[in-house]
Amino acid sequence: MSDKATLTIEGKTYEYPIIVGSEGEKAIDARNLRADTGYITYDEGFANTGSCLSNITFIDGEKGILRYRGYPIEQLAKHSSFISAAYLIIYGELPNAQQREIFRENIRKQASVNTAMNAMFDGFPARSHPMAILSAMMNSLGCYYPHMASNNREQDLEHFDEAAALMISKVRTIAAMSYRAEKGLPFVWPRVDLRYTANFLHMMFSEPYNTYEPDEDTVEALDLFLLLHADHEQNCSTSTVRMVASSGANLFASVAAGVCGLWGPLHGGANVAVVKMLMEIHKNGDDGSTFIRNAKEGKARLMGFGHRVYKNFDPRAKILGKAVERVLANMGRKDPLLDIAKRLEESALSDNYFVDRKLYPNVDFYSGLLLRAIGIPLEMFTVMFAIGRIPGWIANWREVAITPKQKIYRPRQIFMGPPRRELEDIA
Ligand SMILES: CC(C)(COP(=O)(O)OP(=O)(O)OC[C@H]1O[C@@H](n2cnc3c(N)ncnc32)[C@H](O)[C@@H]1OP(=O)(O)O)[C@@H](O)C(=O)NCCC(=O)NCCS
Repeated sequence: MSDKATLTIEGKTYEYPIIVGSEGEKAIDARNLRADTGYITYDEGFANTGSCLSNITFIDGEKGILRYRGYPIEQLAKHSSFISAAYLIIYGELPNAQQREIFRENIRKQASVNTAMNAMFDGFPARSHPMAILSAMMNSLGCYYPHMASNNREQDLEHFDEAAALMISKVRTIAAMSYRAEKGLPFVWPRVDLRYTANFLHMMFSEPYNTYEPDEDTVEALDLFLLLHADHEQNCSTSTVRMVASSGANLFASVAAGVCGLWGPLHGGANVAVVKMLMEIHKNGDDGSTFIRNAKEGKARLMGFGHRVYKNFDPRAKILGKAVERVLANMGRKDPLLDIAKRLEESALSDNYFVDRKLYPNVDFYSGLLLRAIGIPLEMFTVMFAIGRIPGWIANWREVAITPKQKIYRPRQIFMGPPRRELEDIA
């Protein structure tokens, strides 16, 4: 195969290098295109645009493959914890026993937040959305640790290990606090004897007079949820983090922007939309067939189906689907919404509308049902996604920060507005 791509415009021919990734992904290096030709590419939604070279996560959407730093997601889901996967994503290798213990300890000792932050929770109006609170709080963390959030790249990198552990730790405390603030419940302090995920459940559901003791299956299922959300290549929120980071902004500001990117229903908000959709179908007494018909006619959207990259099963959806069944079985409970979800999946997978468009269940199709089984309230679903995604955002921030001569992200546009016109004297 030629290692150059040839482009002919207005009778002139230009050659551009081909870049091949470590898994054979091919790209045309168009960095000199505008300088050479005066043309830019138009690629709405960036579906054909590689915005960076990255070593973190590999996805093959056609084959339904997801790997963190080379390790298949199925193997990590079986053998790793969220915290080990977070270390892998951030530092490139799984931790040995000593590295894991140091990482855990660094996270553990950062679990509480400065008490001055409590007053900030009071400043939000009642019923504020926890994603708005989370984003504001993640950014304001930088105010409490200004030496880690200096916007001086060298200095911010010098404090990176501490900042990364702090962020992984405090996001969980802030998330639980935002839930309890909204409910008017007193804040619960973290416990040193609990591991990461169990500690989160404790801060969410314990009361000063009644300690919540989650069972092992519940903790394991939530840990799996977090691990499966830990990174996913250049999605909307991660690209947002990289874009903000490319200006030289610190880790806290960049991650806070990522939280906002995640909030929308086409991204992290989809897990909420899926459960609301299933509730609606249940309430209407529909077996799912009317909803599928409406989705095909463009009157509804089958939330949790379809993906910009996966044109096959999202491997995370397969793992989560089984996890929901396992958790409910262990609890000896049934969820009518799971039955509806399975019926929808079955009909969509055998329907030409969905088959032709390669629409398969994505991570959100079953993740909301898993959170519901664990007892996480609906308004916290996207926050849970954010806790899981923190390692990916941190790793991507670092990749931008350590890249020598990193260019600021600055796409171009094609202006379609009015051409130059003159301002007449309105008077
Ligand atoms: C994820 C998503 C935004 C990807 O969007 P995209 O790559 O831009 O794909 P498009 O929206 O262009 O969809 C392509 C076609 O499939 C249809 N389609 C896509 N997702 C669909 C869905 N969930 N239900 C019904 N039809 C869908 C579109 O209507 C379009 O049909 P058309 O070609 O007849 O116009 C989209 O599939 C979606 O909205 N899914 C539901 C939300 C969701 O689960 N998001 C979480 C993603 S992890």
